[in-house]
Amino acid sequence: MRINDHQPLLPYLAAEDRYDHMPFRKCGQSGLKLPAISLGLWHNFGHNADFKNARSILRTGFDLGITHFDLANNYGPPYGSAEETFGRIMQKDFAVYRDELIISSKAGWDMWPGPYGNFGSRKYLIASCDQSLKRMGLEYVDIFYHHRPDPETPLEETMGALDHLVRQGKALYVGISQYSAADTAKAAKILKELGTPCLIHQPRYSMFDRWVENGLLEVLEKEGIGAIAFSPLEQGILSDKYLNGIPKDSRAAKDGRYLTAKQITPEVLNKVQKLNELAKKRGQSLAQMAIAWLLKDPRITTVLVGVSKPEQLKENVAAAQNVVFSKEELDKIQKILN
Ligand SMILES: NC(=O)c1ccc[n+]([C@@H]2O[C@H](COP(=O)([O-])OP(=O)(O)OC[C@H]3O[C@@H](n4cnc5c(N)ncnc54)[C@H](OP(=O)(O)O)[C@@H]3O)[C@@H](O)[C@H]2O)c1
Repeated sequence: MRINDHQPLLPYLAAEDRYDHMPFRKCGQSGLKLPAISLGLWHNFGHNADFKNARSILRTGFDLGITHFDLANNYGPPYGSAEETFGRIMQKDFAVYRDELIISSKAGWDMWPGPYGNFGSRKYLIASCDQSLKRMGLEYVDIFYHHRPDPETPLEETMGALDHLVRQGKALYVGISQYSAADTAKAAKILKELGTPCLIHQPRYSMFDRWVENGLLEVLEKEGIGAIAFSPLEQGILSDKYLNGIPKDSRAAKDGRYLTAKQITPEVLNKVQKLNELAKKRGQSLAQMAIAWLLKDPRITTVLVGVSKPEQLKENVAAAQNVVFSKEELDKIQKILN
């Protein structure tokens, strides 16, 4: 496969064979297909990040068939800056490829001061989507999400705001994130009645966090909603990187907002070590096995990875080439995770 020589100052021409290897999966019962691996811009795209590296990651992803980039209003730091960085790269490298891309953003977490910059009101969602479009220099996003459930706002109001954004032409599809199975069923019903079906649910899902298996996946299948699993590597824990200490350039060492060295306990590492041995026997790295383990379930449309380097993305994308597990392998994994 030809990967572009990513000299950041050279003009970008996407790899001609970018659709030759990546499997695409139908998102629920919609007409939209998503790549088995999608790329999230939560970390490594803020104003604190290296712009050339960020650009190289996106180029590498698109060259490998990743057509879906996932953002949110508050990705950074500071809030909004990942969308700004993405907007700059979009303009420089991807403007001619806009129709080959599925770009998402979200609102739901704290974004600006006061009562209208958080949670799920119509006021917040519509203003936030407008801001995201400006930061990214886009006319529309492909998917707009409500980022988390809001216990205080009626679901009808929040879903009504998503429907409104589609009718305004600012979003093509809508989704929800981190909603429980029961709330997902309610949201799906409201959206269906409004005529804007829920395209996709974005839950946290990995070998180490399996809450979606307690009802959510069943609801998604019944309602024809796709699933995009975030933090599939538990922010990097489900790889071999922490087996010999905390590398200086790792998220646990250098970020500390969402992953700290304290979370990487001997008990966790013991499981990671055993999983790593099993992955080797499958001919995969542990990161690849962790991604493949999610993709073995056809209800998972796509796995949403984050990376700090283009090389990690190359490794992760290769996971999609082997997502079949024997019963024996699955039993062994289950035993390690118990
Ligand atoms: N909806 C929500 O509420 C929500 C919440 C969180 C995230 N998300 C979405 O999900 C995306 C992914 O989340 P995440 O970044 O936590 O995902 P993740 O894939 O679990 O972790 C990504 C991190 O793992 C490390 N890594 C990746 N590939 C590796 C490899 N092959 N070998 C070793 N280490 C590797 C890198 O960290 P190092 O810096 O250590 O190299 C990378 O930044 C986000 O960007 C965002 O789009 C959504």
